[in-house]
This record gives sequence, C-alpha cells and structure tokens, in this order.
Amino acid sequence: MPLRHLLAIEGMHPHDIGQLLDLAESYVLLNRSGKTQRDLLRGRTLINLFFEDSTRTRTSFELAGKRLGADVINMSVATSSVNKGETLLDTAATLNAMHCDLLVVRHAQSGAPDLLAQKVEAAVINAGDGTHEHPTQALLDALTIRRRKGRLAGLTVAICGDIAHSRVARSNIHLLTAMGSRVRVVGPPTLMPAEIEAFGVERHHDMDAGLDGADIVMMLRLQRERMGDGGLVPSAREFFRFWGLDAARLARARPDALVMHPGPMNRGVEIDSAVADDPLRSVIREQVEMGVAVRMAVLDTLSRGGANG
Ligand code: ASP
Ligand code: CP
Repeated sequence: MPLRHLLAIEGMHPHDIGQLLDLAESYVLLNRSGKTQRDLLRGRTLINLFFEDSTRTRTSFELAGKRLGADVINMSVATSSVNKGETLLDTAATLNAMHCDLLVVRHAQSGAPDLLAQKVEAAVINAGDGTHEHPTQALLDALTIRRRKGRLAGLTVAICGDIAHSRVARSNIHLLTAMGSRVRVVGPPTLMPAEIEAFGVERHHDMDAGLDGADIVMMLRLQRERMGDGGLVPSAREFFRFWGLDAARLARARPDALVMHPGPMNRGVEIDSAVADDPLRSVIREQVEMGVAVRMAVLDTLSRGGANG
C-alpha cells in the first residue's frame, strides 16, 4: 500500500521504516554534493501550517520542499484568520481549495493531523501533535543512529527526562522497538506515563542505572508548555542535579555512546554544554542535517502515494 499520509510511527511496518531510511540516505548524499532534484515536486504545493513554535522542523520542511522543486508556502498562523476565530478545519478546507498537495501540520492538540487527513485531499504530514507523535523526528533520529552505529537492532537506547509530555519519546519508542532496539525510559516518576512498560520499554527512576552500558543517550527538554501549574518538577538546578547529563553521568554509558537531543536544548537544565558540544560524543548537529534528508524522503514517498501522486 503506498503511504498516503504520515501521521504516526505507531503501526508502521519495519520494512516501510527501513525503506524511508534508505531513501533518506540517498538524500544525505545528494545534499552533501550540493545538487538538488527540482523536477520531482515541480508544480506541487507544500504548505507549512504550524500552530506551535518551531525552528528545525519548519525550516527543514521548507528546505526539503524547495530542494525537490515544490512551491512552498509558510503560513503564519500568528497573523492568519485563526485569530478571527476560524477553526482548524475551516482553515484546512480553505487551503485545500487552493489545491495544496502536501500539508505539514504542527498543533498543540494530539490527533489534529489525523482529523485534517480525513477532511482534505492533500497528503498530511504530522510535524508534532501535542504529546502524541513527531514521526519525522523519530525517522531522523533513527537515520542518525543507523549511520553512526551501522544498525538499530540490538542497541540499547536510553531516552531521558520528560517522557510523559514528549511526542519525540513516543515516536522514538515505537520506531526503535519496531526495529529491534532495547529502549529504556529514564526520568522522575512525575514525568513518566503510567504503564509505560506496555510499550515494550524498561523504566528507570535512577539516572545512573538507566544510563549503564547504553549505546545511545537521548536527552529531552522539559515540556513546560504542557505541564500546567502541577509542580511536576523541582527547580531547574535541582532537576539538573538528578536528571541532567554531564560528563560524569555520561561515563556510565558505553565509552562510544552517542549523545542526542531533538532540540531546542535548555543548557544547564537537561544537558551540560560540555557534553552537548563535545564533537566526539554529541551528534546533535548531525540530527539536524539528517532532518532535511528524512523530510525529502518523506515528501518524495508521499508525492508518489498521495491523492495527487
Ligand atoms: N522540538 C521537539 C518537539 O516539538 C522537542 C521539543 O520541543 O522539546 O516536540
Ligand atoms: N526537534 C524539533 O522538532 O525542533 P523544532 O521544535 O525547532 O521544530
């Protein structure tokens, strides 16, 4: 079945994930050569519809679309008629009437991209919905790991910090477990979803034990925008003391362990600068590079399988 939309990693077949990663690999090489492939999406329109802030995802979808020849529109939600009370569905219907082919959506509400996918003809790509999923982030993380380690199967990946509010954690858990990695989730009980073991992961409430022998250490930002005033975390300084990654903590992981972070980072809260900027251990910049290639692969794939493909 051709891929019609990209809404979630959950439910994706490992073969399809592998194919997307292989295609993205070819786009890494194309991007590094400085060439483009502007005939692929010539005449197609991609609209970035971001109801939440973004630096990496929005910019890389724009670059990816342009490198493949699409007309790319960045809709500024802050200055749109959403402010005059227009609903998400009416906004989408308006864009649909302009014959948009690819709609990239970020929204604070989990499930918003699924809803849109039922209402518009465009291929819909989830660029992050609430605490639900961020599928292209998990794909770019997997590509980064696979290129560095040569595989995903059998690796131990520690995902650390605010698991409860992180769509990055959720998409990575689905992808990595599907591809045969061993996933540990590490963080305080207040930031850990109940029954997380049902996702096939190991839960750790002690950072040192969670990092012990890990191949990959993936740090997450505290998603304060989703926490309300519940007092789920102590002060930033105290959080760092128990759950932050510094060189001493990283020494618990394998000597060749890689440090990852989806960005944006809050230095001194979940990660120390010395670790984040260590060229021997940190692949955080490389993740951003892989993001462009992965998004090109996703646009390529959807343009073949989508309604207008
Ligand atoms: N940028 C990622 C997201 O939008 C992670 C984060 O914001 O912490 O989910
Ligand atoms: N990782 C990520 O999604 O970054 P942005 O929020 O900047 O897009």
